[in-house]
Amino acid sequence: MTFLKQIGRRRFLNALGGTALMGAVPGAVQSAQRAATASDTFTPDLEIELRAVQDQVPLYQGPPTNVWRYRARVLKGDAQSVSHHPDSPLGPVIRVHRGTRIRIHFINELPQPSVVHWHGLLVPEAADGHPRYAVGPGGRYVYEFEVINRAGTYWFHPHPHGMTGSQVYAGLTGLFIVTDDEERALKLPDGDRDVGLVIQDRSFTRDNQLRYMGQGGGMMGMMGGMMGFLGDRIHVNGRPDFTLAAERKPYRLRLLNGSNSRICKLAWSDGSPVTVIGTDGGLLAAPVSRPYVTLAPSERVELWVDFSTRAAGEEIGLVSLPFAASAGGGMMMGGGMMGGSGPAQGAGFPVFKVRVGQGAAVSEKLPEKLASMPALRPEQAHNLNAPRSIRVTASGMRWSLNGRMFEMEGVAPDEVVRFGSTEVWEFINEASMHMMGSMPHPLHVHGVQFRIIDRRVHPSAMAAWRSVSDGYVDEGWKDTALVMPGERVRVLMRFESFPGLFLYHCHNLEHEDTGMMRNFLIKV
Ligand code: C2O
Ligand code: CU
Repeated sequence: MTFLKQIGRRRFLNALGGTALMGAVPGAVQSAQRAATASDTFTPDLEIELRAVQDQVPLYQGPPTNVWRYRARVLKGDAQSVSHHPDSPLGPVIRVHRGTRIRIHFINELPQPSVVHWHGLLVPEAADGHPRYAVGPGGRYVYEFEVINRAGTYWFHPHPHGMTGSQVYAGLTGLFIVTDDEERALKLPDGDRDVGLVIQDRSFTRDNQLRYMGQGGGMMGMMGGMMGFLGDRIHVNGRPDFTLAAERKPYRLRLLNGSNSRICKLAWSDGSPVTVIGTDGGLLAAPVSRPYVTLAPSERVELWVDFSTRAAGEEIGLVSLPFAASAGGGMMMGGGMMGGSGPAQGAGFPVFKVRVGQGAAVSEKLPEKLASMPALRPEQAHNLNAPRSIRVTASGMRWSLNGRMFEMEGVAPDEVVRFGSTEVWEFINEASMHMMGSMPHPLHVHGVQFRIIDRRVHPSAMAAWRSVSDGYVDEGWKDTALVMPGERVRVLMRFESFPGLFLYHCHNLEHEDTGMMRNFLIKV
């Protein structure tokens, strides 16, 4: 890890010194000073101070665990907008109404550079948390944006280059929940029955300290960068052995896979179907039912579940079912090899328990129609017949995209899109292209929400693909698409929110940190 950290730090320093490689597109890069201070032209409804700090939390019997975490304080506006989880490194949870104008004063009290990305939110370039805007220890950054997203479950996390994986792992993760009038009118479960649940895998030393892959560097670090980190304990909202004490009523569960690289195949332990009402970009047009839900790192899914049909005192679990993570059909070698000892990628494990209370059962109907979906049709794309292809490649022992690694300010000529245009991108993960074999990659695009047009899979990878494909929820808006070995995914998006330099990358954080990330320029 030391090795990776050094690379990240060097790039960061290069960017500060202005010596980083300039891309092929002149004028792509704006001054990093742009949003370092609050502007007088922006009048916030909500103003928050967000500090990234070193702290300790009691997680297991024995010594407390050293963590890095966000701490927030409302300076102006509704104090209820921010809440913290007790005894957990995670959070805060930020809840706002669509249309809220928000200013966030970020203060970096960590011993490393950091920057905050508002994952899934459509924000101006300067507020998007690009690694070139990272601020060093003691540094500050002011984020200003209006919340224009649909009602849904978004989140925030660090995004400094080469250090995103280790910083998220240390605890820096929070949910950002948006509501709007259309959603309010649905009268979905609310208050204590609207529950955010962040699923993450972690490993610990015997004295309760977080253990990340390849500490000490060398081969372990290299392997970790290729495969991704897999931990041996499942935490929910930053806590082990999570149990939700539920009333005998319907609930809305907002699940985020906040793991660095572990993919979940989520199902109810008794085999009940899973009712899905929302995805990355908010509510679906109508609820859908699945035998299980496939949830890759950074993806969100909102479930509706009616505990009124359960007996008083009944217990039910949410579990992750086994699946085949490589085209050959096997499970990826996992934590054991990477410095953990936990389940391999594709192994099954329990996630959390629900204990149903003793009170009277109260049922509510789930609306048949949920939200209006902004229309976007493939025919509107200017490149429907020649999609922009984003190919998973390997450069040496590292994953890359279209044969290129991340460059802090670099944009290739084929990474420029027109502001206002509608495009089809095709994510391509060939079944077997390389000595590193092939593995699943969750590909994420900043600056947009997209629709999934279709998926195709190579016959040689069909069996593995079938072990997760019934759990895809492609009906809704997405900002991340899991691309399995041998799979091609066509997505449709319109670049209408903000022009500027944005990122697309693999959300396997070890892949991202080792260079599986690129800039693209939305050009006016
Ligand atoms: Cu959640 Cu660029 O990432
Ligand atoms: Cu990847």
